[in-house]
Amino acid sequence: MKHIIAPSILAANFGQLDEAVEQINKSEAEWLHIDIMDGRFVPNISFGFPVLEAIQKKCTKVLDVHLMIVEPEKYLQRFAESGAQVITVHYEACTHLHRTIAAIKQLGCKAGVALNPHTPVQLLTNVLEELDLVCLMSVNPGYGGQQFIEKTYQKIEALHLMATSIAKPLFIEIDGGVSQQNAAQLLKAGANVLVAGSAVFKSNNPLKAIANLKSINLDTLTV
Ligand code: DX5
Ligand code: ZN
Repeated sequence: MKHIIAPSILAANFGQLDEAVEQINKSEAEWLHIDIMDGRFVPNISFGFPVLEAIQKKCTKVLDVHLMIVEPEKYLQRFAESGAQVITVHYEACTHLHRTIAAIKQLGCKAGVALNPHTPVQLLTNVLEELDLVCLMSVNPGYGGQQFIEKTYQKIEALHLMATSIAKPLFIEIDGGVSQQNAAQLLKAGANVLVAGSAVFKSNNPLKAIANLKSINLDTLTV
């Protein structure tokens, strides 16, 4: 599978949200990553349903919604109704993860689980078969523009091995500090979805930044 680019709208200029979404529509990105923060699971608050609904009205790409919230199970239906097509909950926020994953799928969405940097991938062994996506946080969630945590490479390799050993097609998504410099190495380790906030929206040319990330060819990689 050719890798997917998911620009994170968190890094866009919210005063010109429509323009940012239109830019993504014109780009080679397949997904748009949407960070929902509640000020409880993470020490920051981003935005909620009205903004997601406004994005949905304009966006032609898959809406990849990353819930950095406690008790996500309470709001799954609302997020699905507001346009989420991929819903990712945090392992650390779900007591009944298996039930929450089933509920996401019942809504017709792809189900993802995100792991904080300190959470080992092996904790997903007993639910991996149920998942469409695992999001490995490569920064501590809560803010864009943070520095990439190098340990992530080992987590990608371990997760990739776990998925291939049960012949499970899985989106392995990397979120936080993804850049033009580390993207190739992330893909080589086994990632297939790259979230990019600052690397896209803080660049001089977001369309070009996305095209560059998309054009990385694993077959000709020398890293
Ligand atoms: C962090 C968010 C990320 C963030 C990525 O809590 O989950 O999706 O927007 O931003 P960059 O790419 O700037 O690290
Ligand atoms: Zn995110």
